[in-house]
Amino acid sequence: MSLSIIGNWKSNGSLESNKSWIHDFKYSINDPEISNVAICPPFTYLDQMISLTSNLGLSIGSQDIDSSSGARTGSISINACKDIGCCFSIVGHSERREIFGESNMYLRQKLITAQESGFQVIFCIGEPKEQQLAGTTNNFLEKQIIESLSDLELLDGFTIAYEPIWAIGTGKIPDIKDINATHKFIKDIVQSSSKNNFTPNVLYGGSVTSKNAEVLFKEKYIDGALIGGASLNGKEFAEIANIFKNRGF
Ligand code: 13P
Repeated sequence: MSLSIIGNWKSNGSLESNKSWIHDFKYSINDPEISNVAICPPFTYLDQMISLTSNLGLSIGSQDIDSSSGARTGSISINACKDIGCCFSIVGHSERREIFGESNMYLRQKLITAQESGFQVIFCIGEPKEQQLAGTTNNFLEKQIIESLSDLELLDGFTIAYEPIWAIGTGKIPDIKDINATHKFIKDIVQSSSKNNFTPNVLYGGSVTSKNAEVLFKEKYIDGALIGGASLNGKEFAEIANIFKNRGF
């Protein structure tokens, strides 16, 4: 399954506000036959959101998964997610890397476990501001890709989300042509380093809103978006999905 517009709610939502979100989304989405739109609520709301979206095409994913199961207090396994009807997970978000110390090698293990379970992954990469200023973005991204993915057989639906760390939650985004070129670079590196020469879809993440979505989605190598802040509003998120649907190619 190819997912193009994904909302990452991070640590937000409540039983009550989730219901209003669904209401707002439902009345704002133009095409009720949505199949490539998804949201990732916190673990505790996955079950609620899976029931609330059962008659919508919206997919529900988790924001993270553990690399294993069993004696790992506080962790959530892939099987636990699958069990409640969750169909994919974000892995390697920069907040997991920075706040929770997740390394490329550790993320590789999560990816291997997910692949073995046939569980779809949206794998995040992205450079900090210093790398962007130094002009070493591509080197940084290549290292993230090689250390986490090289020689793995990537499953259908495996997707990269390119999120420059300095663009997350700041209202700043890179030049659109630069994003497009970076996406092409990412596709080439994943293709040449994966065992099965897999070319992934690449979503852009970092301050995406309904205001900048149209220009982003016109670019050849931008296959969709991973959206944080703007996905917390059901109407705004639906508007971005509508813009993607009408992007004209
Ligand atoms: P914002 O859209 O709030 O910048 O967040 C992006 C993000 O981190 C999505 O994973």
